[in-house]
Amino acid sequence: MSKNILTHFSEKEKELGYTFENPVPTVRLISTSEPDFMRHVLQTNHRNYKKGRAYDVLKLVLGNGLVTSNGQFWQKQRRLAQPAFHKKNLEDLFNVMGQTAKAYFVSLDKKRGTEIDIAREMMAVTARIALKSLFSDNTEEDLNTVYDSMTNAQRYVSDALNNPFIQIAYLVNGRKRAFKKDMKVLDNVVLKAISKRRNSDQKHPDLLQMMMDATYEDSNEQMNDLQLRDEMITMFSAGHETSANALAWTLYLLVQHPEIVTKMKEEINRVVGDQLPGFQDIRQLTYIRQVIDEGMRLYPPVWGVSRTAINEDEFRGVKIKAKDVVFCQIYNAHRREDLFHKASSFNPDRFNQAAKKSMPKMSYLPFGGGPRLCIGNMFALMEMQLILVGLLQRFDFKLIEDQIIDMEALVTLRPRYGIKMMLS
Ligand code: HEM
Repeated sequence: MSKNILTHFSEKEKELGYTFENPVPTVRLISTSEPDFMRHVLQTNHRNYKKGRAYDVLKLVLGNGLVTSNGQFWQKQRRLAQPAFHKKNLEDLFNVMGQTAKAYFVSLDKKRGTEIDIAREMMAVTARIALKSLFSDNTEEDLNTVYDSMTNAQRYVSDALNNPFIQIAYLVNGRKRAFKKDMKVLDNVVLKAISKRRNSDQKHPDLLQMMMDATYEDSNEQMNDLQLRDEMITMFSAGHETSANALAWTLYLLVQHPEIVTKMKEEINRVVGDQLPGFQDIRQLTYIRQVIDEGMRLYPPVWGVSRTAINEDEFRGVKIKAKDVVFCQIYNAHRREDLFHKASSFNPDRFNQAAKKSMPKMSYLPFGGGPRLCIGNMFALMEMQLILVGLLQRFDFKLIEDQIIDMEALVTLRPRYGIKMMLS
């Protein structure tokens, strides 16, 4: 299971059905790709389910931020953070995004005529966008420090998640010490950025400012520095690797479907010509949006979410005891033949307005569901539309032959060996 968790669950599902019990040491895990069951856990009866062990490991990096917290504390934080993602603020963030993407396209231009790893490229641009959207006024050096220490820390946590016993080895082989050092560096940069902003008269149109100025409904107070630190690191972590993987996989699908690229280019010509889209244009790029939706169906960046039952529960005859874990298999649900006709084929038309309406509820969950739906979903969608448009306006991509393309399901679904393409 820890060798290839994705294949493990897909094969078990074929053998045992859409909902089955999977014995793992110390916990009873119920796996499901049944939309109604996922809806029960994530939405209808969500109060009985909390984020469990997997999220406790994530806390090592993310602290007690929106992704990892539970109960009333989570609810308070969510209410505080939600307005940062309202339309007016998204428009400001979109401008930061546009400038950052433009600078990235200029740097990519220098690689024309060479082989690139599109997964690595997409990670670089989305990290840049996330950092600039969070801390628009920080120095390049600080942004690079955040990126490097965060990447190391995330790798540490991913390994710990996939193998609970590895933490013992970490103590001996020095990785724990290195991890602590990375976290300290990260803390210092983020806390320094917060303090600099607190002492400045100037306002910036970024997430740090929006989260810093927001006040709790009950007390009218603002977040303290440590909580703000947790939320900033959470946003950076949740907000770039997911979009990067979605983009890399979508481009992988696109190089194999030139007819779809042609349709996208027609739409780009009609809506924006050779300009990058503005905030108002995004809504009109409907076909590009369908392509992204379909890319995330086949390769959902968050391939599964888990919840731990607080009290016992039952769903259609399945008894769930307190402390059982229910694992919602987003990847498996997206590839079910009975839910998606010819499920393994790449067909953006299944996401046109009419077809979308007839999709069974909670069968398509790239952003999760229920009250803990991704807070950054609109941010991510406009970011991905912007990057895809910019890339197709400027470049052509060709897949390098004879390479192994494989999925690696860590916290997000990554291409294990990258995806190499010729850029022209
Ligand atoms: C393609 C891009 C993205 C995907 C596929 C994605 C997916 C998800 C999913 C599935 C969840 C729910 C996790 C669960 O229920 O356990 C989630 C939560 C979250 N996401 Fe995203 N996300 C993306 C982009 C972003 C961005 C850009 C941001 C921030 C700028 C962000 C911030 C968050 C936060 C803070 C949460 C926790 C929300 C809560 O529990 O209240 N995400 N995301």
